[in-house]
This record gives sequence, C-alpha cells and structure tokens, in this order.
Amino acid sequence: MPNTILVGAQWGDEGKGKIIDVLTEGADIVVRTQGGNNAGHTVYVGKKKYVLHLIPSGMLRKGKICVIGNGVVIDPIGLLSEINGLKDLGVKINGRLMVSETAHVVLPYHRELDAQREILKGKNKIGTTKRGIGPAYGDKAARTGLRMVDLMNPERFEVLLRMRIKENNEILRALGAKGLSFKKVHETYRAAADALRPYVENTVVLLHEAHRLGASILFEGAQGTYLDIDHGTYPFVTSSNTTSGGACTGSGMPPNRMDRVVGVMKAYTTRVGEGPLPTEDAQISDMLHGMGREFGATTGRARRCGWFDAVATRNATMVNGIDELAVTNLDGLDQLDKIKVCGGYRCGGKVLDYVPNDIEAFSSCEPIYMEFPGWRVSTEKARTWKQLPLNARKYLKAVAEMACAELSIVSVGPAREQTIQL
Ligand code: IMP
Repeated sequence: MPNTILVGAQWGDEGKGKIIDVLTEGADIVVRTQGGNNAGHTVYVGKKKYVLHLIPSGMLRKGKICVIGNGVVIDPIGLLSEINGLKDLGVKINGRLMVSETAHVVLPYHRELDAQREILKGKNKIGTTKRGIGPAYGDKAARTGLRMVDLMNPERFEVLLRMRIKENNEILRALGAKGLSFKKVHETYRAAADALRPYVENTVVLLHEAHRLGASILFEGAQGTYLDIDHGTYPFVTSSNTTSGGACTGSGMPPNRMDRVVGVMKAYTTRVGEGPLPTEDAQISDMLHGMGREFGATTGRARRCGWFDAVATRNATMVNGIDELAVTNLDGLDQLDKIKVCGGYRCGGKVLDYVPNDIEAFSSCEPIYMEFPGWRVSTEKARTWKQLPLNARKYLKAVAEMACAELSIVSVGPAREQTIQL
C-alpha cells in the first residue's frame, strides 16, 4: 500500500476510525498528525468497542507501529490513561507507540482557558470539546508552548511551567476563575513525564527511515475539512489543519512522498458544536437519534444531522486533493422512502456551487435539493457491491460523482466485516 492520507470530508465524525482500521491492514505505520484528545475514533473489534482519542486506531491491529506526530497537541494525562486502558485490554503497546518530541503539551490552564472563553462568548460560543485544544495551539503559535521534549527535561520543565502558570493564573483570575497550584500541576505532570519517557523520540527521523526501507504509512486525520482552521467555517472550527496539508506539516513527511488521499464522508451530514450546517434537518436528526445513532464519541453530545451536502463535499475534494472516497453509515438511510441531496446553495439572490467564505453568507445559504428514492431494506449484511440494493448503488454512484471522487469503500455498519471494498 502506498503512503496514504486519510481525511474527513465533512464536519468530523465521518466514521474515520473504522476506515482507518480497515486501511491499517495494508499499512506498516499509522500516524496521527493534528488535533488532540478532542478527537474520538470508535473501532469495534469483534464485540469490543474501543474509543481512541490520541493513540492512532492502528494500535488495535497486531504488529502495527503507531506514531503521534509533531502536529498533535498531547494531554499527557489523557495519553497515559489511554495507554493504560489499552494495556488492561491486553493490547501490547511497548515498542509500538512513538510520540514526537516536538508535539506540544496540553496543560490544565489550556483546559481552564478553553472553558472560560466559551463562557465569555455566551451565545456565540464555539461549542468546543473543552479539552484545551485552542489555547494549546494558541500557545504554539505565540511561541509560549511547552513541547514533549521540554516535559522530558525535569529542570527545564519546572522553569517553563512556573512561568506559564504565573501568567495564565493572572488571565484566569481576570476572567473570574481560580488560579492553578504550580505544585500540584508540577507533581502530576512530572510523574506523567516519567511514565511517557519510553515512547518519546524523533519521529521525523523514524518516519523517513521507515519510508526509505519501503514501509507503507497511513496518515490518519482527525476532525474534518470544515473544522480546519484555514478552510473551515471559521471561527466555528478547531485549531489545527484537518485538511491533507496538515498530514505533511504534522508529521514531517513532505507532499512529494504522499501517494493518495482518501476522503471519508457519511452518506448524510452531521456536525457537533455550533456553526453553519446548511442541510440540517429535523426529520433526519430525529430518525437517526431515534435509532440511537449520532452521539459524540468524546463528549456524548447529540450530533446535529442533515442531508448529504454535495457542494461542501466537492469543495472538500478540491481542498484535500481527494482521490478516493469512503462512504460510511449507509445503513443509517435504510429506512427512508426518499433521500435528499443538496446540489447547490441559494444565497443572497444567487445560486452558488461552492462554499462561501463569509460565515454570515454561509449561514444564510439555503440548500437546493434533489431527491433520490430510498431502498427500504437493511444494507447491514451486504458484503459486496452487488449485494447492495439497486437504489443504494444509484445513490452512492450519484453522491461520489457529485463529490468528484472515485468511490472505493462503502461501510454498512460499525464492524470491520461490514465493509465493501470496490
Ligand atoms: P475544539 O477542537 O475542542 O476546540 O472544538 C472546536 C469545534 O470542533 C467544536 O465545534 C467541536 O465540536 C468540533 N470538534 C472538535 N473535535 C471534533 C471531532 O473529533 N469530531 C467532531 N467535531 C469535533
């Protein structure tokens, strides 16, 4: 398998965890390149459900090497609890997990600031996961962040942490929140540093050496295209580059070493948190929630649901350079008589076939729908293209064509086997 970048083509939660797990079979190394424990990748192995937040889903496949790249922001306490949780389930971690020295560390003041800023924003809140992601990336850009390499150096960590807590306590108090105890944070993070030490190394050198020796590398994206800090629905975005370019900057593997980009999309659309979602619709939301579907893997929040938005997905194909599409959750549409797809937006008296950058303009866009007949039978047991109902095949072909990419995978349920590879 060539070096593959996998991205979410919508607003996150596209079912990337499952597709990554399927593609991992043909990969030697799986790399996370951006985001932090705001992500939640759900994978079912047999009857067991695993939700991974920082560790690449590749960890659930025997013998695969997993890397947390420099572009990720790491909550050391969260990472340790994930490592221990997997160890308790009998997953071998030692010698298989490598964490970048230059990845930035999420500290308690990042989480506090995240929460306080959301309160301050009131009805304009972003609806963040409150994992401290924005403030951690903010510190990275402001050059006041601490990196894993600093966490590994006890003397330097102590000096830097003291300085950062002093400044952030002033900000927190000004916002009406309590300051943090340096002693407490220091003790907790020093202990975490020692436990994480065996995993921390120069992952750029490691990846290039593996590439030179012919390894196949899978770069797993977190969140989705419209949560990208540059290309998403700013300010209702996360703070990293969730699009394919982020895989390069977040790993140190250059663009000319990448061979293909796989975009993952749901057969419909969902979003958690605030911000525009043109195709949001009560009928499909109620139906999916009623089926017990579409609750966030990290926060448990009910996701907002809507019809498939071909305009947004086509735009995502363009920005990411998506070669192949994996369509997930097809079975979520099994009960419907008619299925709508948005093929354009009506916006300020014009018809648009692209996503407008102005957030107010985008929020006012009205979808122009076309309708497809449903199939009204369960697709959950289909294992080949031919076993899918004709109307489902027609729907899939049409959405892939509208999204301007080749359909390569269809997922009809959470289990590994519920996957059709074309
Ligand atoms: P943050 O990344 O916690 O700062 O949240 C910013 C926005 O991105 C919010 O709307 C979150 O709901 C959304 N978000 C962050 N991570 C994910 C994810 O893994 N899936 C879906 N939405 C996410």
